[in-house]
Amino acid sequence: MKIAIAGGTGTLGRLVTGELRARGHEVRVLSRGAPEYRVDLTTGAGLDEALAGCEVVVDVSNNSSRTAAATLVDGTRRLLAAGQAAGVAHHVCVSIVGCELVPQGYFAAKAKQEDLVAGGTVPWTIVRATQFHEYVAALLAAGARWRALPVPRALVQPVACADVARTVAGAAERAARHGQVAIAGPDVVTARELAWRWRRATGTRAVLVPLDGPGADPADRVTLDESVSMALLVVLETLSPAERTAFVLHDVFGVEFTEIAGVVGRSPAAVRQLASRARRHVQGDRPRFPPTRAQQRELVAAFTSACYDGDLERLMTLLDPEVTWRADGGGAVRATPPAARGARQIARVLLGFARRPPRQVRMALVNGSPGLVLTDADGVLTVLALTADAGRITAIDVIRDPAKLGKVDAALTGATFRSEQ
Ligand SMILES: NC(=O)c1ccc[n+]([C@@H]2O[C@H](COP(=O)([O-])OP(=O)(O)OC[C@H]3O[C@@H](n4cnc5c(N)ncnc54)[C@H](OP(=O)(O)O)[C@@H]3O)[C@@H](O)[C@H]2O)c1
Repeated sequence: MKIAIAGGTGTLGRLVTGELRARGHEVRVLSRGAPEYRVDLTTGAGLDEALAGCEVVVDVSNNSSRTAAATLVDGTRRLLAAGQAAGVAHHVCVSIVGCELVPQGYFAAKAKQEDLVAGGTVPWTIVRATQFHEYVAALLAAGARWRALPVPRALVQPVACADVARTVAGAAERAARHGQVAIAGPDVVTARELAWRWRRATGTRAVLVPLDGPGADPADRVTLDESVSMALLVVLETLSPAERTAFVLHDVFGVEFTEIAGVVGRSPAAVRQLASRARRHVQGDRPRFPPTRAQQRELVAAFTSACYDGDLERLMTLLDPEVTWRADGGGAVRATPPAARGARQIARVLLGFARRPPRQVRMALVNGSPGLVLTDADGVLTVLALTADAGRITAIDVIRDPAKLGKVDAALTGATFRSEQ
């Protein structure tokens, strides 16, 4: 058969092209950048020549930008009209499982594309697929550059693009169904589990950021592990769920405010405000004059020795007057006081700790920040993560949650400061 593939240079298009050629068909690859059949669906340029003599058209073109409808909707109209004029016997359109359930932006354009195909005069088949593994991986990799993986509270069933290509090729070879075929991957998983697996498989360091909609489960919180920057984690945790969603979706993924408005159930103007509040918060919490590695080591060394010497005044000179103290026992271990306040009170607490020394104190990089790991014969007791700005310690995070401490050993770096063994 002579088959035209609109979008034959794309992720799915390349595989469909290879599959149909392997099955012995004569395939024409159509796209704006295709070497032989340069076609622009938004104008119709090159379409008539490309479809002349073709029996089947497979449409795997795509556009997920703001102008998606120009390709998916108007382009489909042109493709169907040119197909009809060329006497095409079967139009195969690839779409998305459940696209009609999201009446916004890209998905609305896909649903409209389906309506055009089903309502047209060219015999048709629609192949609906779930998200491609390749697409999900690209999305996660994009988020990971920010060390934050937004994870919607949703079930997903991603599929390998190669499996979809085989289904599409099979549909193109058979007679038009005047109906839909659906294909999905073998596993239904939560988006969170998928992000976990991807992170583990790729060794990527990024925090999972739940995108909470209305009625979110409080148990579904940001996950802390050794890969997370303490500063980012703290900032994200202090944002409200709606702020976090607006900030991550807009600033990290470039999603339009109008679309986010649907997710969080607010107006686009309100979402813009949420994101801008979150942005101010995030920027405000970043150190203005972050120390170099050498300065970090110096500061941690001075901090450790002031603690061991019991020198309150020296310790005070190392603490920012507004220093904050955050204790995390994970509910399993006491990490008192949970919220000490003010440099003097915090310095006293620290000196109290130092009077009960563990066997060993080691300097370490904790979640990307300078810190100390306190151990005894049974293992890690406590981790202190220090945030510094302009030469002083501005935040102390005391981590005693056994679940988190278990992961610390592997991350230990740096020199032993003092050993009482
Ligand atoms: N990605 C997913 O997870 C997923 C899941 C389910 C279903 N789908 C569906 O699968 C199909 C293919 O998706 P994909 O991810 O493979 O897309 P893709 O990689 O983005 O490829 C898009 C293709 O369309 C061509 N194209 C874009 N604008 C065009 C225009 N104005 N005129 C002509 N050609 C144009 C591109 O080539 P040029 O840039 O050279 O023009 C390219 O060949 C889409 O219908 C999509 O909705 C995708």
